[in-house]
Amino acid sequence: MRVHVADHPLITHKLTVLRDKNTSSPVFRSLTEELMTLLAYEGTRNVRVEPVTIQTPVAETQGVRIGDPKPLIVPILRAGLGMLEGMVKLVPTAEVGFLGMARDEETLEPTTYAERLPEDLSDRQCFVLDPMLATGGSLAAAIEFLFQRGAKDVTAICILGTPEGLAAVEKAMAGREITIVLGALDERLNEHGYIVPGLGDAGDRLYGTV
Ligand code: PRP
Ligand code: URA
Repeated sequence: MRVHVADHPLITHKLTVLRDKNTSSPVFRSLTEELMTLLAYEGTRNVRVEPVTIQTPVAETQGVRIGDPKPLIVPILRAGLGMLEGMVKLVPTAEVGFLGMARDEETLEPTTYAERLPEDLSDRQCFVLDPMLATGGSLAAAIEFLFQRGAKDVTAICILGTPEGLAAVEKAMAGREITIVLGALDERLNEHGYIVPGLGDAGDRLYGTV
């Protein structure tokens, strides 16, 4: 498992405002999107491209474009939805599939309540978006779902992660290769399964307590 923690003052600056409990929901939403755009730069480092020849006003030259099969972006509902626009802005030709997962706040076990994904992912590059990698249960279940559909090339992009969560995902992957990009690696999980220092409940801060 490859883990990349983004290290950039702009990301740390935006993360600081995001973490602040006094940050309002509208600001939290725009920051989540902006952070995603910054993390997408690292997360798409290995996006598949094909060569193209184009004509500039001056000469013919070679370039690349993101071709087919199109990359598949998979936001994990709810909180991952807050990252979606930030990603599709950078990769507008990507397709979007959805996974709805909710963590039981007592047992911390995730359940999947919605799914809209292609049946066969064997030739797709998949980019999973979820702001929070806490115990790692939700991300591990989401990636397992993609593997069951044949996916071989999975990158997860999360805003915050924990050492415990990374270890749990690595164990669940059982040697299968994935990449995880984080905006920050936080200290630890608390006894309620929350990330410390974290930012609280990402879904609630984005969309309210429904
Ligand atoms: C949050 C978050 C992750 C999960 C992380 O979602 O967005 O999906 O918790 O926790 P874990 O690593 O311990 O599994 P939540 O289940 O609260 O649902 P929501 O996005 O609808 O708020
Ligand atoms: N889910 C969140 O939204 N925040 C946490 O700190 C842990 C799980």
